Amino acid sequence: MYDVLIIGSGAAGLTLALSLPDTLKIAVLSKEVLTEGSTFYAQGGISAVLDDEDSFESHIKDTLDAGAGLCIEETVREVVEKGPEAIDWLIKAGVPFTREASNAEVDKLHLTREGGHSNRRVAHAADASGRAIETTLVSQIKDKQNIDLFENHIAIDLITTRKLHYQRHNQCVGAYVLDKEEEKVNTFKAKTTVLATGGASKVYLYTSNPDGASGDGIAMGWRAGCRVANMEFMQFHPTCLYHPHAKSNLITEAVRGEGGRLLLPNGTRFMENFDPRGELAPRDIVARSIDHEMKRLGIDSVFLDISHKSKDFLLNHFPNVYAMCRKFGYDMSKEPVPVVPAAHYTCGGVMVDQHGQTDLDRLYAIGETTFTGLHGANRLASNSLLECIVYGKAAAQDIIKRCDCANNLDDIVIPDWDESRVTDSDERVVINHNWDEVRRFMWDYVGIVRTSKRLQRARNRIEMLLKEIDEYYSNFRVSSDLIELRNLAEVARLIIRSAQQRKESRGLHYTLDYPNPDPKLEHVNSILDPIKSSRS
Ligand code: FAD
Ligand code: SIN
Repeated sequence: MYDVLIIGSGAAGLTLALSLPDTLKIAVLSKEVLTEGSTFYAQGGISAVLDDEDSFESHIKDTLDAGAGLCIEETVREVVEKGPEAIDWLIKAGVPFTREASNAEVDKLHLTREGGHSNRRVAHAADASGRAIETTLVSQIKDKQNIDLFENHIAIDLITTRKLHYQRHNQCVGAYVLDKEEEKVNTFKAKTTVLATGGASKVYLYTSNPDGASGDGIAMGWRAGCRVANMEFMQFHPTCLYHPHAKSNLITEAVRGEGGRLLLPNGTRFMENFDPRGELAPRDIVARSIDHEMKRLGIDSVFLDISHKSKDFLLNHFPNVYAMCRKFGYDMSKEPVPVVPAAHYTCGGVMVDQHGQTDLDRLYAIGETTFTGLHGANRLASNSLLECIVYGKAAAQDIIKRCDCANNLDDIVIPDWDESRVTDSDERVVINHNWDEVRRFMWDYVGIVRTSKRLQRARNRIEMLLKEIDEYYSNFRVSSDLIELRNLAEVARLIIRSAQQRKESRGLHYTLDYPNPDPKLEHVNSILDPIKSSRS
């Protein structure tokens, strides 16, 4: 038995694991290799107030403005004020953040700028900030004797006392986990379990996210009885490279922060027609404006132009993005590159308190898989990695406090995973087909611009597909693809239900049937409760 089972090895999971004492026995699961997850691919950086010209009040205001009336101000303040400490912790861990020019008198961090930020406040490691953070934290965790690392282990479902029919208040006591190499389901019993499984952008056909972003933690939390909130607010990043062979290739917002302009095919700028902040307006506005122009003109992409900067500048600030564009035949120093929006970030998720505690006793959730109230209706760029670090640490403190008094669960007997009624699937094609279908109708009907009719169509389809997937899940041996499909479809239903519930347009949720915000819905988050849902 483990003291703490952490499902996920991104910035959130690793921060938590490294912030717990060596006396605790900890397991960290990763469904692929340890480094694979959104954290590794983060480009722009991590926001915090680090400059004398900047202030907490300004960072708070920018976050609230981007969040369009739905952020929880207390959460925003808490996270913003812990920003400098979070960066300091990362620097001490060894993250090689980019510094100002080496001949500067003071060795200061170089801060870049992104949409919605009124100051330079994004600490970064060139344009591969996530890789720097993830590899640093992974190298630290490998030295820890008290932490067992399980790569290629995918959690299937949480185990609760209610599911085991114990007559006591509902508690999480671990998870069933598929060892992908051995093809065997193991039981992980734990005094505390933590969901740190990242987001769900893979629910859309086009996304900046890696393949594993299938919303597993949100679906597992929901099935175990946790409320989820604000699932309609899926963020689309405005600038992913448009090329038939480019998959998930983000071009960081910092390119616009350093002067990049968005152009129509005829070379004219258009963002100022939509927002006085132009290319640096918050993401929901930029993505929607691009979508509008693409539909109005019937074009496949718009263009991002930073060719007025020297090649040296680009190689210095954006070496990886430059190389990626070169690979697909574009030289950013000489020409504009075609870009389109793609699903990028899940603003909603499992509801947690300020320590990451969920509705279910002994279950925490941290990172992109959660709803903390920080992001509201639209996340401010580079606030996500910050949230991962701040909540990873906050959860650690709470877990330490509770460990001493936690019952050790000796009286709980967890049966092995039951495979007696299932067989090997002879129709794996069904999984691929359903996976494609969900992602395509989510893109078409629940994308950047929605209507009530499209949402209802999506709802009809997802209910039908979920029945089919449940039947498949009951009859056939679990595989990694089936586990992810089941989660992806559950999360798609949560997104659709939340979107149907919100009869207004706000932040990332834009519907032609209610094109304006409803002042009565300011501060009203969309909460879905699995217990109430099962009764209705
Ligand atoms: P992740 O880093 O996604 O890690 C999830 C972990 O959970 C993985 O280890 C995965 O294997 C594991 N997992 C998932 N399901 C299971 C399961 N069922 N069983 C076992 N393990 C499981 N944010 C910023 O703040 N700044 C940026 O510059 C930035 N740039 C970005 C660029 C890209 C291309 C992308 C995709 C995102 C970017 N973001 C950025 C968002 C940010 O990277 C993520 O929100 C953040 O890294 C999420 O961290 P996490 O720890 O919650 O999850
Ligand atoms: C980017 O680099 O543009 C991504 C930043 C983010 O998602 O916060």
